[in-house]
Amino acid sequence: SLINKRLACGTDINEIAYLISKVKTTPLNIELLKKEYILLYDKLKSYRESADNNVLMKAMKIVPDNERIDYWFKPKQKEELSLIFYSVYEIDNPDVRDFYLVAFAQILKTASIWLQKSIKPTRDMKKKEQDTYILFLNQAKRMIKRHEIYNSMLDKNFINNINKYRKIKCSDSRFMPLRDGETDFIVTSPPYVTSYEYADLHQLPSLWFGYLNTLTKFREKFIGSSYKNRCNIDSIDLKSDIIIQTINNFSNNKKKIREIKNYYADMLESFIEMKRILKLGGKAAIVIGNTQFKNIDIFNAEIFCEQMVNIGFRIFDIIHREIPSKMLPSTRDAATGRFSKALSADKLAYPTEYILIMEKI
Ligand SMILES: C[S@@+](CC[C@H](N)C(=O)[O-])C[C@H]1O[C@@H](n2cnc3c(N)ncnc32)[C@H](O)[C@@H]1O
Repeated sequence: SLINKRLACGTDINEIAYLISKVKTTPLNIELLKKEYILLYDKLKSYRESADNNVLMKAMKIVPDNERIDYWFKPKQKEELSLIFYSVYEIDNPDVRDFYLVAFAQILKTASIWLQKSIKPTRDMKKKEQDTYILFLNQAKRMIKRHEIYNSMLDKNFINNINKYRKIKCSDSRFMPLRDGETDFIVTSPPYVTSYEYADLHQLPSLWFGYLNTLTKFREKFIGSSYKNRCNIDSIDLKSDIIIQTINNFSNNKKKIREIKNYYADMLESFIEMKRILKLGGKAAIVIGNTQFKNIDIFNAEIFCEQMVNIGFRIFDIIHREIPSKMLPSTRDAATGRFSKALSADKLAYPTEYILIMEKI
């Protein structure tokens, strides 16, 4: 939107997703970023070469006291990472500091014992240790290059007044920071149900930045989480007959039924909010795939259409898209419903997806 000289507003409930989006849309002076890079390079080099433990002690003090950091990071990696974290925290300019915090966030998975190819929290005790300083500096270098490209595509007026043209907030999609009828177009890729704990997507930086105290509490706020529990769920009209059919297919599984109801209730509230902020004739593009759990189909795309039509949208277009194989999510085992390695599984979690273009009428 910003590159096309349009006002943009973005939200995500995850603090790290918010920080990444903020950093990647905030135009920053490249010379300033490069200057800071050299300072960081020199500092990290001196920490590596010095036997002085004082800085390490100071650095370890700002790392949140959370046993899950020790669960994911070996002591040596934790020490090195704490020195990088400390050096970044010392940067005065808040936008530049956030830029390098994102670089730090993005190396955490590789620097930890999180199974590299997995998006699920699985430990790999035999994972090869990487040089964290090199990981960080290379990541920062790549980000500076990308940022230079972004800057070159933005209009000068947008560069100088970014906060006038861009609203970005860490918030719930059911409470958007926009007035009624203010929006022409919405794009979203919502969470799925019975599929994935989205809180885990940025679990490691959430730990380091102190956003995550207990995992259960942290997961609850995410739509689609199995940890969510709305108290009035049975009295809510979910505005879809397909949901009732789907629930009937899960007859013995009370936990799944609750999960599914919570999810579609949250999504319905998001659709109502979309309708509120859209202009008449405004459109929402929603990327979603159908999925299966233990051989039971979950027709997300059809259900979303039904719910949205029932609250005052019409189907403007539906684009059907095959997901390129390298982007495929994990496959799942038909008997247990668990995610598993591609070779041993027989069902794809969501091999094709739809882009629902819904118009407010
Ligand atoms: C399928 S991911 C899409 C992420 C990102 N938009 C993208 O396309 O890469 C779903 C996102 O929904 C976010 N989410 C979950 N519950 C939310 C809520 N209540 N309000 C706003 N975002 C939420 C998750 O944090 C996650 O980032």
